[in-house]
Amino acid sequence: MTFISCTDVVKVYRLGQVEISALRGLSLTVEKGEIIAIMGPSGSGKTTLLNIVGGLDRATAGTVMVGDVSLGFTPIPQLVNYRRKVVGHIFQTLNLIPTLTAKENVELPMIANKVGRGERDARAEELLSIVDLADRMRHKPDELSGGEQQRVAIACALANDPPILLADEPTGELDSETSKIIIDYLLQINKRFGKTIVMVTHNPLVAAATERILRIEDGVIVASYTPADLESDAEGRAISYVEKLRYRINKLKKELDSLDRKIKRGQISGDEYVEERLRLKAAIRGLEDEMHRHGA
Ligand SMILES: Nc1ncnc2c1ncn2[C@@H]1O[C@H](COP(=O)(O)OP(=O)(O)OP(=O)(O)O)[C@@H](O)[C@H]1O
Ligand SMILES: [Mg+2]
Repeated sequence: MTFISCTDVVKVYRLGQVEISALRGLSLTVEKGEIIAIMGPSGSGKTTLLNIVGGLDRATAGTVMVGDVSLGFTPIPQLVNYRRKVVGHIFQTLNLIPTLTAKENVELPMIANKVGRGERDARAEELLSIVDLADRMRHKPDELSGGEQQRVAIACALANDPPILLADEPTGELDSETSKIIIDYLLQINKRFGKTIVMVTHNPLVAAATERILRIEDGVIVASYTPADLESDAEGRAISYVEKLRYRINKLKKELDSLDRKIKRGQISGDEYVEERLRLKAAIRGLEDEMHRHGA
């Protein structure tokens, strides 16, 4: 069942005399319960799209339907309600309040939604437990690691139990290990609670963990593919060459990590380790050179 549907969406920002077309007739649909990734270059319109689907901004033209609500025609009070109850938004810049504890941050959207104290308390604790932060509830954001802050942001987005989660670069600043943890939480939330998740990411490995990947360029969706396509060459034209290179490099780096773990556990000999490590390093260097030749 289609849950989110954008048809011919245009977004023009006006800055004085200058007009910037961030979305140029973008169309997409997302099924209920689906988890998808949106990938594309910086400035291609990803955040703009999430802001429009999230009811923070309105399209200049086109239609955006979420369930049976047409966002372009929704009056402001209903839009506020939509923002509180239908979507949970994880922002590129997190938006945690620095003076509040993790738990208070999670309670904030519920206060806006007039949830009573007792229920708020219980739900905030439950959500922070889901992201394994039960022992960090009284920490303020700057007393938490980047990955932990990201998990608090996920708990905040889930506070009012919205059916949709929008996540803008949820692993943006994180190393690959922590990114994996965050994406695992999002997958778990998708499977366990049936949330529809739209995630923006630059990381092909993160995207590959979802069900479907949409590629956006210059404000339109130019390709849709599944993670399996990332592996095969059959869909070569759907994915940019540079993106493919980046995906391969990330995979090889993961192999390097696992090699390091193997030698630490004594599962391979020193000779094997050295040989395999040299091979992987050379392969990574070759791919990185190729990326540089393509200006990435
Ligand atoms: N409030 C705004 N006013 C004017 N122009 C804007 C505004 N927000 C975004 N833009 C412009 O719209 C285009 C799309 O921006 P957007 O933030 O959606 O890109 P993005 O794909 O999220 O990029 P990134 O990967 O860097 O986050 C860019 O050219 C940007 O400069
Ligand atoms: Mg952005």
